[in-house]
Amino acid sequence: ITTRLAAGPLAGKRIIVTSGPTHEPIDPVRYIANRSSGAQGTAVARALRALGAEVVFITGPATVRPPEGVQVVPVETASDMHAAVQAALPADAAVFAAAVADWRVASASDRKLKKTKDGMPRLAFEENPDILREVASQTQDRPDLVVGFAAETNDVVEHATAKRLRKGCDWIVANDVSPATGIMGGAENAVILITAEGEEHWPRMPKDQVAQRLAEKIAATLTPPVS
Ligand code: CTP
Ligand code: CA
Repeated sequence: ITTRLAAGPLAGKRIIVTSGPTHEPIDPVRYIANRSSGAQGTAVARALRALGAEVVFITGPATVRPPEGVQVVPVETASDMHAAVQAALPADAAVFAAAVADWRVASASDRKLKKTKDGMPRLAFEENPDILREVASQTQDRPDLVVGFAAETNDVVEHATAKRLRKGCDWIVANDVSPATGIMGGAENAVILITAEGEEHWPRMPKDQVAQRLAEKIAATLTPPVS
């Protein structure tokens, strides 16, 4: 079913999409996670596929099902995701929609931590690889278009504009995920697309429509009309 020949403006283009949360183990039965459902990344992968792209969908443990017709690479930790992204390169574009854990537990226990009279465990952390920054700044096999997401709770444009420069990516899809917006885990999104040209404020709309519009913009950028 997935071998149908793709047609559409993105036919022949290979695009990596990361999505979902990552889980960082504390011990064999416990982990640290975040509230990402994977909905927006999944919608982006589906929309890119519908426009004909060959999509490598690298997903943490999301609550939504992956789209049909894409190559699904399930991962658990940020380190797994990092390795999967590097293995999936080269690609024409990469969209980093995953909510990657910034930190992992420095020495996850290989045995279940037990309650003891000595008190509670103390967790030490170490930083995870920044997958987006690495891919955006690599000179070999850098995709033509690198798109990051920025989930912020305040000063969205300011943070996201700085993030685009810091990461070295081409676009940042920024959104306000403060609890009052209902965006994290919800069906809608209100995004600001930040590019080298400036900012585009998109109205609040279903995540599928955000994905559709983003996929169309990616198609227009990767395959500009011949003059
Ligand atoms: N990202 C990534 N690898 C990481 C962290 C983030 O690939 N280890 C990507 C995300 O998928 C997203 C973008 O980077 O596309 C921005 O993530 P975000 O968490 O907003 O950025 P950070 O640099 O981690 O900044 P913050 O301190 O705001 O979390
Ligand atoms: Ca982060």
